[in-house]
Amino acid sequence: MDLQESRAPSAVDGDPAPNPHATAEQVEAARHDSKLAQVLYHDWEAENYDEKWSISYDKRCVDYARDLFDATVPDSEQRRLPYDNALELGCGSGFFLLNLIQAGVARRGSVTDLSPGMVKVAIRNGENLGLNIDGRVADAERIPYDDDTFDLVVGHAVLHHIPDVEQSLREVVRVLKPGGRFIFAGEPTNAGENYARPLSTLTWRAVTNVTKLPGLSGWRRPQAELDESSRAAALEAIVDLHTFSPADLERMSRNAGAVDVSTATTEFTAAMVGWPIRTFEAAVPLGRLGWGWAKFAFNSWITLSWVDANLWSRVVPKGWFYNVMVTGVKPS
Ligand SMILES: C[S@@+](CC[C@H](N)C(=O)[O-])C[C@H]1O[C@@H](n2cnc3c(N)ncnc32)[C@H](O)[C@@H]1O
Repeated sequence: MDLQESRAPSAVDGDPAPNPHATAEQVEAARHDSKLAQVLYHDWEAENYDEKWSISYDKRCVDYARDLFDATVPDSEQRRLPYDNALELGCGSGFFLLNLIQAGVARRGSVTDLSPGMVKVAIRNGENLGLNIDGRVADAERIPYDDDTFDLVVGHAVLHHIPDVEQSLREVVRVLKPGGRFIFAGEPTNAGENYARPLSTLTWRAVTNVTKLPGLSGWRRPQAELDESSRAAALEAIVDLHTFSPADLERMSRNAGAVDVSTATTEFTAAMVGWPIRTFEAAVPLGRLGWGWAKFAFNSWITLSWVDANLWSRVVPKGWFYNVMVTGVKPS
């Protein structure tokens, strides 16, 4: 056991333990129970999640998290920074809150997720960074904190997994202090899903078929790994519940009791290129592409994101972009 594993994470006593190896019966049951599917799928990917999504806790992702925050929250509000006490819902490995704390957006916070495996990894990542955080297993539809507790609630790529999004936003407003703000980023739009998913599926089919050709076998992942990815993709289809229009998220936030609600969107051509690139990386053997490729992929994405923000945003409707962010405030 390595040093990190032997450190007891500071999760709340009584939280369930991670289950990274679901049985076939559990996977079958999860087909009819989206929350069980969330736990199995995300517990399964928790320990490799940062690597899978190229998540880091250095300048690259600190800047990315801060850019998402800045693109969503009005300048006037940013003078309040840092918020004292923040909560993250569906924290995964902690990408959003840990990097926002490092970016000076919040002083301290609590990371929560439905998946015990994710909470464990997020707490460990926070501890390794020396941040002032705690964490617990929590369902975003029933947040286990008192009313008026947090100055800021954040989430990244979580709302589309929650069955009753409006109920969850009501809970967010309840646990915020009056005047407190929420921000959810990284949610897929209806339009974005129509081009990103087909492009990914096409890339997966093309790569897994072309690498059957003689001479390209070195580019083919072992069949057992491809089969495992296909099983994971089946669970992924169960855990991805929604896509949104910006207007959907604004309406649900207002219905939940928030004021000063607004949305912003990012990634148009960056998503059209980024999703096939990510799928290609997942379809070939780990480590086959190397550092030069990683640099090329990241630089392409940065360049296209810049073009999207500075050119396409002037001509393309907001709802055509791939990612939507929403923010709002609890009335004082
Ligand atoms: C796509 S991952 C995003 C993780 C992280 N926020 C990020 O951006 O890297 C979605 C996360 O939401 C969690 N989740 C799904 N349903 C949830 C729910 N009802 N309550 C809390 N977390 C949930 C999953 O376990 C998973 O960790």
